[in-house]
Amino acid sequence: MTSTAATAARAMPGIDAPAYVNHAKLKAWVAEVARLTQPDRIVWCDGSQAEYDRLCSEMVASGMLIKLNQQKRPGCFLARSDPDDVARMEDRTFVCSKNKEDAGPNNNWVEPEEMRATLTKITDGCMRGRTMYVIPYSMGPLGSHISHIGVELTDSPYVVVSMRVMTRIGRAVLDLLGTDKFFVPCLHSVGAPLKSGEKDVVWPSNKQQKYIVHFPEEKLIWSFGSGYGGNALLGKKCFALRIASIMAREQGWLAEHMLILGIQPPSGKKHYIAAAFPSACGKTNLAMLIPPKELQGWKVTTIGEDIAWIKPGKDGRLYAINPEAGAFGVAPGTSEFTNPNCLAALTKDTIFTNVAMSADGDVWWEGLTKTPPANLTDWQGKPWDSNSGKPAAHANARFTVAASQIPCIDPDWENPAGVPISAFLFGGRRTTTVPLVAEAKDWTHGVYMAATMASETTAAIIGKVGVVRRDPFAMLPFCGYHFGDYFNHWLKVGKALTQAPKIFAVNWFRKDENGKFMWPGYGDNMRVLKWIIERCEGKGGAADTPVGKMPRYEDMELSGIKDFSKAAFEKLTEVDGALWKEEVKDHERLFGELASRMPAEMMEQRKQLEKAL
Ligand code: GTP
Ligand code: SPV
Ligand code: MN
Repeated sequence: MTSTAATAARAMPGIDAPAYVNHAKLKAWVAEVARLTQPDRIVWCDGSQAEYDRLCSEMVASGMLIKLNQQKRPGCFLARSDPDDVARMEDRTFVCSKNKEDAGPNNNWVEPEEMRATLTKITDGCMRGRTMYVIPYSMGPLGSHISHIGVELTDSPYVVVSMRVMTRIGRAVLDLLGTDKFFVPCLHSVGAPLKSGEKDVVWPSNKQQKYIVHFPEEKLIWSFGSGYGGNALLGKKCFALRIASIMAREQGWLAEHMLILGIQPPSGKKHYIAAAFPSACGKTNLAMLIPPKELQGWKVTTIGEDIAWIKPGKDGRLYAINPEAGAFGVAPGTSEFTNPNCLAALTKDTIFTNVAMSADGDVWWEGLTKTPPANLTDWQGKPWDSNSGKPAAHANARFTVAASQIPCIDPDWENPAGVPISAFLFGGRRTTTVPLVAEAKDWTHGVYMAATMASETTAAIIGKVGVVRRDPFAMLPFCGYHFGDYFNHWLKVGKALTQAPKIFAVNWFRKDENGKFMWPGYGDNMRVLKWIIERCEGKGGAADTPVGKMPRYEDMELSGIKDFSKAAFEKLTEVDGALWKEEVKDHERLFGELASRMPAEMMEQRKQLEKAL
């Protein structure tokens, strides 16, 4: 460093940490990053409401946030992102382990020193003209033995307010960190420095270069160029899934792309289940479902709707926490019919991103109401023409809302001990082949089901939508290491349990020859959950099939579903031998790609399935 740079860094407001910061390593890292990125000032976030309100006001003044109609949506704001910065970018996401093989074919890899040099170069001076915020945050309830701490440095105030909703931030976290406890360093910049006097754009980002990078050995996250969602709120996918999956393997636990819900039967014991579905495939909906009237008395409560951290307990069961404190959920499709609990959560103190706005300053998105209100402004701020064929809200428009606002939030959602898991569900978006529900014969078979699941891609990622791809455990974009090692880890964790959860494969998305969903879904998914809970309790009938144990028509509560005959059920649960033979071929292809680290048990399962078919 030159002496002028050193002087400039020393003169930077905020470079000296507040007196309550006593963590030498943290202070040194913040100073090092400030020297590199050269922000105008540094703000150590205390996590207070006053700080949140001040940042929101500043963003309203700069145009980054629009204050919505405060009578209709008190405390609510709308952000409109750059049209090139609307979702996660899988092709710009990297896991830079020392050894390429450790990252596996499921991750993009660059030699870590080379990546570090590239990032250092583009990060040099990248915060000029901006404020660098220091956000200490906890993933999971403060002080839980399942929780972990991160510190995000960012030049985006939108990220700060979002992180305050999505995680637990501020001084209390620094108190926990003490003088020398471990934290995951997360460096984020929108990558858009301002020249002196240059006017900022509404949504700064870097059009040329975007990188979302993970260094497994250092547990370092470094994100550049995007301000949107999982690219920028680094506690979410970068820490709670990619880095946490690596930590979990090292330490004997699980970090998963799963919702967690509680199910209280009309009589008897409450159960918790965790379910993995790929992005925009129904986790939020399932986590908050309202049972149909035929299943009145069954009660569903929400622990989490996107991520689960799961640890073996001393009693041989698995215990899960939701590491997040809020939901960053898909807006389109959310309605009074599909998810009334979620809609109720969004009536106040919510940040909406890329939804449409009505003339009276309220929000709208496709599916919210049958007919759109007149005179909508689309997600890019232009008058919306309903005949244009273009959606008014972006397909990956999202809301950011505190979990505490969800009406059906479980009383134990912040229990530091976690909740015991009775069953795991794995489901993809499959138009054909995969039946409504199948129960694994045992843990190893369940791991096979999860390892071989596939799904159609959605608008949650930038790229092609609607392509079927293998997405093991719904973790394809999120597993921070080689999938073969990951399958092994799941097998190992299961073997050590004395009361392992049962494992089920589900598919809400099968379609008939007219392209219509065969299963009503949403609240009616409770009918499947009921059967699952009964199976967990050793009740409930099932028939053996080559792909697992499946309910027969009489084993499920199916009364009251419109136009749903026994024949429709048979079709929905049909196992087509020819289609499944193709399916197994694709399992073989996947295992071939992962061959160097594939557990032998998985190969054996595949052979058994082939034989059974
Ligand atoms: P991420 O937040 O991206 O990880 O996704 P998520 O799994 O939480 O997504 P979400 O629950 O918001 O999924 C939304 C999409 O799933 C919308 O397209 C819904 O229409 C669809 N969906 C959810 N549940 C069902 C269902 O039971 N049946 C059908 N057919 N579609 C569903
Ligand atoms: C997902 O894509 O699975 C999400 C949204 O939950 S994001 O946080 O942007 O990754
Ligand atoms: Mn997700």
